[in-house]
Amino acid sequence: MSSSNSAFTFTSHPFVASTAQDSRAPCPALNSLANHGYIHHNGCEISFFSLLFAIHHIYNLSIPLSFLLTFVGFLSVGHITWVSSSSHWIPLALPSWRINLSNLSQRGPHCITHDASLVHVNVYPSTTPDQSLVKHMLNFASHTGRDGLSLPELASLHSMQCKAIHTRLDNLHEQIALGECGLAWAVMRSRTTSSEDDVIPYSRLATWFGKEELPEDWWDVGGSRPKESIGLFEARERAEDVSRYTHAM
Ligand code: HEM
Repeated sequence: MSSSNSAFTFTSHPFVASTAQDSRAPCPALNSLANHGYIHHNGCEISFFSLLFAIHHIYNLSIPLSFLLTFVGFLSVGHITWVSSSSHWIPLALPSWRINLSNLSQRGPHCITHDASLVHVNVYPSTTPDQSLVKHMLNFASHTGRDGLSLPELASLHSMQCKAIHTRLDNLHEQIALGECGLAWAVMRSRTTSSEDDVIPYSRLATWFGKEELPEDWWDVGGSRPKESIGLFEARERAEDVSRYTHAM
């Protein structure tokens, strides 16, 4: 197996499962970053820029998209911590915008978390994937005949979750849920010649959604990390695709 020369490879950032003391979000992307130590493993007091650059480097999202996602998360549940300046010339404590991952599972009109999650249950805190929902996702993926989930199939799973909760998501949370599905597919899809044929392969669903670990071939040359940067336009387009497929059902 060939490895890329990136300083971010698994050699320097092996997967270490979280413990009960660690803070985790209801988000496979962020928890995988913490489990590999790309942000602090305990998931606490993560600074704005360390999260922004981790998303940018690890998932190959553009800076504007990484900024937007990080900003929305910090706006919803970030807090200010006063940090002593390391300079002798500025003997002050400076404000620093921080986040604890588990706070992201707070609920409310200005929070991100909603009731139609694919693999998280609707309780607070909801920070680890629910294994029966993961099993449901994997079971669904194994019956598609493609060994994974295409974008329409992911939309169909989202639609099932919406029906299962018996209440409609408000418009903001519906847009968030569509965005999550679209972004997950953009980041984790197999890259064949045509995006129509792409799926999130079963093994990636199990590893990333189920264990919150990056796929083993992530950093390999020709591996599963997105080769081209994913930007705002693509994220919006994928969310619109999910919306279209969902409403066509
Ligand atoms: C590469 C970037 C990201 C990707 C691919 C991604 C993907 C996802 C996915 C697929 C889910 C749904 C999990 C489920 O349905 O069970 C999710 C949930 C969530 N994400 Fe992310 N995410 C990213 C970045 C972020 C950032 C930067 C934040 C905030 C700082 C964030 C906060 C959340 C929250 C709060 C949820 C819970 C929403 C719910 O109730 O399902 N995510 N994310």
